[in-house]
Amino acid sequence: MSNSDVMKKAAAEAALEYVEDGTIVGVGTGSTVNYFIDALAAKRDDIEGAVSSSEASTERLKQHGIPVFDLNGAGPIPVYIDGADEINEFGQMIKGGGAALTREKIIAAVAEKYVCIADHSKLVGVLGSFPLPVEVIPMARSYVAREIVKLGGDPVWRQGVTTDNGNWILDVHNLEIMKPMELEQSLNNIVGVVTNGLFARRGANIALLGANDGVQKHQ
Ligand code: 5RP
Repeated sequence: MSNSDVMKKAAAEAALEYVEDGTIVGVGTGSTVNYFIDALAAKRDDIEGAVSSSEASTERLKQHGIPVFDLNGAGPIPVYIDGADEINEFGQMIKGGGAALTREKIIAAVAEKYVCIADHSKLVGVLGSFPLPVEVIPMARSYVAREIVKLGGDPVWRQGVTTDNGNWILDVHNLEIMKPMELEQSLNNIVGVVTNGLFARRGANIALLGANDGVQKHQ
């Protein structure tokens, strides 16, 4: 296992502390979350089940015998556990490297608490080195790309990728995001955008970041 994977796994296992018995847990997507799902299997009989942000996570949860509920019927979600591509000291994030940003943002909105799990390399001063994913309705791809250029970004179509919702992804390069909340809103305002990967308005409440000397907790 690489050093990065050791740190991701440590952060994922530390998140178990936030899982409340008898509740439905919000589960994100990605390699760090996969470690979380594997660890959650040990608590399978203590929780009611999970709501999932992607087909991939749903499949892994089911493989472990963890019931997966439809969000519409799930009621309150005390905690959502998910990774990030970048996170700043305010808990604002770039997400969507795994193309699951829309369902991730929905569950994050519902959840009372967002616990971000990652290795410490994801912590940045200014968001934007990681290309910002934007999920678009396929017929709007070129229009949205032109509008993003007007906002100062350099959009690149993630060819060959279709999201779980049947849409496409533009990855926006060369952004130095000084005002994450404003940019999140501006991108949402473009017709044809389904979701953008800036999680600024609803960021993480707690970040558990795996490092060489253990898991750092930021809140
Ligand atoms: C998926 C995501 C992931 O949280 C993000 O890409 C981090 O993934 P990983 O844990 O593999 O580094 O937003 O859409």
